[in-house]
Amino acid sequence: MTTATVILAAGQGTRMKSDLPKVLHHAAGRPLVAWVVDAAAQVTDLPPVVVIGHGGEQVQALLGDQAVYAQQTQRLGTGHAVQHATELLQGKADRVIALYGDMPLVQGKTLADLVALYETSAADPQAAPVAIAMITIRREDPQGFGRILRNGDGEVQRIVEEADCTPEQLRIQELNPGLYCFDDDWLWKNLPNIRISPKGEYYLTDMVEIAVAQSRRVVTMDVAAEETYGINTRSHLAIAAKALRQRILERRMDAGVTIIDPATTYVDAGVTIGVDTTLLPGVHLQGETTIGSACTIGPNTQIVDSRIGSGCRIVYSVVEQARMDDGSEIGPFGHLRKGAHLGEGVHMGNFGEVKNSYLGPGTKMGHFSYLGDAQIEGDVNIGAGTITCNFDGQNKHKTVIGKGVFIGSDTMLVAPLTIGANARTGAGSVVTKDIPAGGLVYGVPARPPKE
Ligand code: UD1
Ligand code: CA
Repeated sequence: MTTATVILAAGQGTRMKSDLPKVLHHAAGRPLVAWVVDAAAQVTDLPPVVVIGHGGEQVQALLGDQAVYAQQTQRLGTGHAVQHATELLQGKADRVIALYGDMPLVQGKTLADLVALYETSAADPQAAPVAIAMITIRREDPQGFGRILRNGDGEVQRIVEEADCTPEQLRIQELNPGLYCFDDDWLWKNLPNIRISPKGEYYLTDMVEIAVAQSRRVVTMDVAAEETYGINTRSHLAIAAKALRQRILERRMDAGVTIIDPATTYVDAGVTIGVDTTLLPGVHLQGETTIGSACTIGPNTQIVDSRIGSGCRIVYSVVEQARMDDGSEIGPFGHLRKGAHLGEGVHMGNFGEVKNSYLGPGTKMGHFSYLGDAQIEGDVNIGAGTITCNFDGQNKHKTVIGKGVFIGSDTMLVAPLTIGANARTGAGSVVTKDIPAGGLVYGVPARPPKE
């Protein structure tokens, strides 16, 4: 049995008050629609058909060939939207799941359970053939949802849209979240039978009545309402993001990561973390970030698109597109920028900034320094307040420092510059010329001592 998926994402999302299409808003580091595509990918190898409309090019640019696309130019309802997938899907699968692109909490397992429900129901030789397996939810406050109508035997008869409900129907708490699994043949054959509503729309929900009229069964599966939570506003977005984050953190904790305060810890979906690493409050791990084992991160630290080894310590710091090897440490109040690379056991203390530079193993940079475009070998001491003057107003220049060099406090290294192994600079030097291995310079501009 193969399954196809259709993700409806043509809606404008007016209530988001945004220039960005609704499904491209981020929750826990990922666009809403990417979460749904991911869930779909867990039940089928066929790329989902994403029905796009408003801002469709942007959705397409983001998902690329993870999906195929059907353009719905005129938005005439959910049934009309699914119809746009006909050419792409008809005959390609046995079952077709339809769901919304603004439903980021839906899980692959639930989609798999829905297909399984379809198959077990369809396999019952005593009962009428199935046409639809659908998810239902229960909510104290049913507002905004289509209501599920059942007959005296408990069989689903139809879905009534809220606007069309009688006062009695309005009280029904069994609701339609908009997630269905259809028989492929039956779906494509019957979609054109949906009649236009008084509002001028083609309701996908009418497929239930159409099935019942043909003596085909509609079977249901109740799931926690949270899973089908749909985003219409920025408040909804915040609620969904919180739930997604909680899920991510629980998975990390199950995998051996200590998280002191989940409420103030933010870990994106793509981040990996090794065992026995501890995340202190106020930690943000974002993008494509990898953290090794036995690290202590935080409090109050942001790490973006970076690779951190094992046994590292990062305190009150910002690390972006950088790399830290095993046993290195930074902070409090350090900043690693793009291309910074701390070798094994490097210590970077208070108020340091490093950009596009390599610091070799065992190098120490304790206090108030800036290193940019520098290549530094191992066991170098960078004295307090040292600065690479890498920018001359027009161009960036390189600083190369050999092994075992001692840079005195408050040294200005005016690049381009090469300092040989084991050289030393005096405190307050302004170094404008290369220093040979083992050399000593001091003063402004820095010179070797007189004989
Ligand atoms: C729909 C259901 C309702 C259900 C509710 C759950 C119908 C007729 N009604 O109502 O029973 O309780 O969802 O949220 O299906 N979309 C398109 N193209 C369209 C119209 C919609 O792609 O022409 C997409 C939207 O982007 C959205 C989703 O389909 O993601 C649902 O559309 P929406 O208009 O919000 O449906 P509801 O009226 O809320
Ligand atoms: Ca809706």
